[in-house]
Amino acid sequence: MCGIVGAIAQRPVTAILLEGLRRLEYRGYDSAGIAILEASGGLRRIRTLGKVARLAEEVATDPLSGTLGIAHTRWATHGEPATRNAHPHVSHDRCAIVHNGIVENHEALRREQIAAGHVFTSETDTEVVVHAIHDELAGGQSLIDAVRRTTARLRGAYALGVMDAQDPGHLVAARQGSPLVIGVGFGEHFIASDVFALLPVTNRFIFLEEGDIAELTLDRVRIWDRDGNEVERPVKTSSLAVDATERGEFRHYMLKEIFEQPRAIADTLEGRLSGNRVLPETFGSQAAELFAGLRAVTIVACGTSYHAALVARYWIESIAGLPCQVEVASEYRYRGHVVPERALFVTISQSGETADTLAALRLAKASGYVATLAICNVPESSLVRESDLVFLTHAGPEIGVASTKAFTTQLVALLLLTLNLGRCNGLEAEREQNLVAVLRSLPGKIEEVLRLDARIARLAEAFVDKHHTLFLGRGEQYPIAMEGALKLKEISYIHAEAYPAGELKHGPLALIDEQMPVVAVAPNNGLLEKLKSNLEEVRARGGQLFVFADHQVPMDESDGVVVVRLPETQDLIDPLVFTVPLQLLAYHVAVLKGTDVDQPRNLAKSVTVE
Ligand code: G6P
Repeated sequence: MCGIVGAIAQRPVTAILLEGLRRLEYRGYDSAGIAILEASGGLRRIRTLGKVARLAEEVATDPLSGTLGIAHTRWATHGEPATRNAHPHVSHDRCAIVHNGIVENHEALRREQIAAGHVFTSETDTEVVVHAIHDELAGGQSLIDAVRRTTARLRGAYALGVMDAQDPGHLVAARQGSPLVIGVGFGEHFIASDVFALLPVTNRFIFLEEGDIAELTLDRVRIWDRDGNEVERPVKTSSLAVDATERGEFRHYMLKEIFEQPRAIADTLEGRLSGNRVLPETFGSQAAELFAGLRAVTIVACGTSYHAALVARYWIESIAGLPCQVEVASEYRYRGHVVPERALFVTISQSGETADTLAALRLAKASGYVATLAICNVPESSLVRESDLVFLTHAGPEIGVASTKAFTTQLVALLLLTLNLGRCNGLEAEREQNLVAVLRSLPGKIEEVLRLDARIARLAEAFVDKHHTLFLGRGEQYPIAMEGALKLKEISYIHAEAYPAGELKHGPLALIDEQMPVVAVAPNNGLLEKLKSNLEEVRARGGQLFVFADHQVPMDESDGVVVVRLPETQDLIDPLVFTVPLQLLAYHVAVLKGTDVDQPRNLAKSVTVE
């Protein structure tokens, strides 16, 4: 949450910082701000409520110019979205900071600082940090020492960018629990919450480690670790294209990302299959050895990634024959739990920076699992760097806050994992070959489903004036129904719930009337007849049914029943194929309702706070 960008250069940095913020806006967008050290030696800042575009307008009417600056786009935690709470925060016109994270002991520090005479102008947890750094500077400390001494007193999580108006030659950055990268240029250096922000100015990055503090000058970057030792961190070159995060001809990122799924899935499969077998080293060179003796799998994730884990539980138990437990990270990390014998611990995350998922991984590493595996879309993310084994999904940058292509590529990763685990646990080679052949057909099947876009856009009209929607599925389709409901509520703000269809009669049936559309996912599998009976229960009570059905499913349209036919698929890939129409449905309902599809209210893409 919150995006940070900063620069020290020989050229003016305002435009670089604003472009960086625009690229980081998926991290939070309720307010934004920028502080620049101007040539006159004065620190000037502009902050606005709302999006980065609004900040850019203000800056255009009141230009800022200088070669040292920091900027921020906010997702509110402490203090409502308001200009006074927007970053950068400044102390005594001298020190300015941007912060991502939560300072847990801010109340105690605030009391101390008020007693010492500081006047607070915001309700944020961040303001105590800037006053503390200012006091150190005023006491004669250098900027780097002032930050070091201040961070030593902080509890919680932070990524910080700090500047001192009296020291135009330095920009200081610190990281603990929130991501931060350094962009390495020629005679200029940058900081940002992720690499995308800086792609227009560099493709060379240093990824700070937990507890690192860095001092940037025009021609040098020095880094100290949490113990105060000066360290060398490698400079890595990114192959991401500058325009990797552009929207192209699509109206929204979300739509672009939905349509990118055939490519993203093909890219994720590439290099992982040989003939009709999954390559043994797909999950790392030690994977085959580690997987051999496994007796159980635990998967932990948040949000959409959690739904991918729920689908995988069905696959891992039924195909690989291993018991699999799945839990949301925020629950897992705070309860006593028994680690199953010889178990693999898997995390799933698009960003690799989700605070709860990271905390769960750290807990698991100290709990006696055989190994930890991260399934993640961002190389060099914290989750990737801290796990024993890694599988990178190749979805490409996902900008829309509601996750789409990251989800389907996670499912691909989980299918490959299932087959690899199965092989170590008695899955016959012939079955594996058949399953891989099905997997290879996936990009083409998704292409076919995307052709339903116009039909689904028309269907969306039936949902626009509704306040509630129920999603039903059985088996692996139950988590897909959950994902469909999540998509709808995230971007259209319609309350949506998912139920396993067999549970309908135990409560939710009481809600059914003509104001409550019911969406069902009905592949042609062994549970179809059971599902149809459940749908009859809805019909009999006047509910409006929208059924996404395999083209072979015998089900006719009638009054109150709309059937959308999907291409014929195989059981294995049904969850992926049926996800796509639900994504499209949510998208078109949101467009009709006129919501902010890519940046829905109150949400952020990368949740780096608890
Ligand atoms: C946020 C995003 C969701 C995402 C979840 C987990 O809530 O808005 O789209 O599914 O975080 O994120 P992760 O990066 O760990 O997959």
